[in-house]
Amino acid sequence: STGNFTFDPGFLSTASCQSKITYIDGDKGELMYRGYPIEQLAEKCDFLETAYLLREGELPTVKQKEAFVKSIQRHTMVHEQLTRFYQGFRRDAHPMAVCVGVVGALSAFYHDAADFSDQEHRTVSFHRILAKMPTIVAMAYKYSVGEPFMYPRNDLDYTENFMHMMFGTPCEKYVPNPVLAKALDRILILHADHEQNASTSTVRLAGSSGANPFACISAGIACLWGPAHGGANEACLNMLEEIGDVSRVGEYIKRAKDKNDSFKLMGFGHRVYKNYDPRAKLMRETCHEVLHELGLHDSKLFKLAMELERIALEDPYFVEKKLYPNVDFYSGIVQSALGIPTSMFTCIFALARTVGWMSQWEEMLTDADYKIGRPRQLYVGAAKRDVTPIGLR
Ligand code: SDX
Repeated sequence: STGNFTFDPGFLSTASCQSKITYIDGDKGELMYRGYPIEQLAEKCDFLETAYLLREGELPTVKQKEAFVKSIQRHTMVHEQLTRFYQGFRRDAHPMAVCVGVVGALSAFYHDAADFSDQEHRTVSFHRILAKMPTIVAMAYKYSVGEPFMYPRNDLDYTENFMHMMFGTPCEKYVPNPVLAKALDRILILHADHEQNASTSTVRLAGSSGANPFACISAGIACLWGPAHGGANEACLNMLEEIGDVSRVGEYIKRAKDKNDSFKLMGFGHRVYKNYDPRAKLMRETCHEVLHELGLHDSKLFKLAMELERIALEDPYFVEKKLYPNVDFYSGIVQSALGIPTSMFTCIFALARTVGWMSQWEEMLTDADYKIGRPRQLYVGAAKRDVTPIGLR
């Protein structure tokens, strides 16, 4: 993936594309953002530094980070009329459906965002969506539980502010737990970008026509929702709860191996990783830290997940097919422990991945050779033939 591809940009969205943002070595289980190993970023940086890195290509200096944070904070509120979109949804609407709608609606408020030829406009769009996603996602949660929307607080850092908007109420001052906030911030880093996955390719393809970037992000959210992609974290936790006990793990492993059974082990396998997803290791460590902080180290679900992982990794089927836990395997357990409901897991994924989507969108549009994506096809349908009048058919 560091070789020089020569390809007609018209095939950009079909075969492959060239990017400087994220590097994955699926065989070694390596992931780097702009050359920095994910393990170092997860340990030494926060999510906003990582967001800056993904877009600008370099980690920020102290001054650059201060200016970046200040700019983000100017955009954390949403237009008051945007809040009315939530009222149009049923309370039991899936939060991902709500986010697809509300993020898409941002394109109706910021027409200038489609003028991506202007660097300043692109910067404002990047900062706007990065700042507003926590507010929009938290509002989707508040709407689903019938609690009042919480306005952002700029005295808190990015992730603490998100937790305040999710879990705070007007009745008392929300004081975030720093250990839990750091864990959630690391989860955002782990989800920030991942090369040309399905939802990123969706954003690139939609953006290649010159559509408003907020509408393109909405398309990315829609794609991410699927259980084969970002929806796997929600599906994985549901699966673990359905398995319920270590004694039933064998039954589900058997089902996962049965060609006649459509069941797949959620959180396992990957299109690119044929080794352990480095994010899964970091997610398991984060899960352990959070459970320990909350005094839940004997969590039944965590023990079940680790036992399921142990059994699967020793099973010849999984070994032969190189199926390992992916980013979604432990993600649900740790988010659940943080108090995030299952239905919100993929929204958190979308919140984080918005940084990657916007960085990839801008990289594509500022490529001098870019053209509108136009997937080609191999036609395997009927040969040319004449229409028979309906009375004779
Ligand atoms: C994400 O692309 C990205 O980068 C995505 C992502 C990101 O950050 O954007 O990493 C996020 O989407 C992670 C993946 C989350 N999805 C899941 O956890 C759902 C469960 N996983 C499977 O649906 C599956 O592993 C896929 C869809 C992720 C990948 O499927 P592939 O392309 O078929 O995987 P493969 O070619 O490596 O499969 C080899 C074999 C196949 O069987 P055969 O055709 O050889 O008989 O293994 C089987 C697969 O059917 N297989 C599984 C399995 N995953 C693959 N069998 C049982 N359980 C599984 N989980």
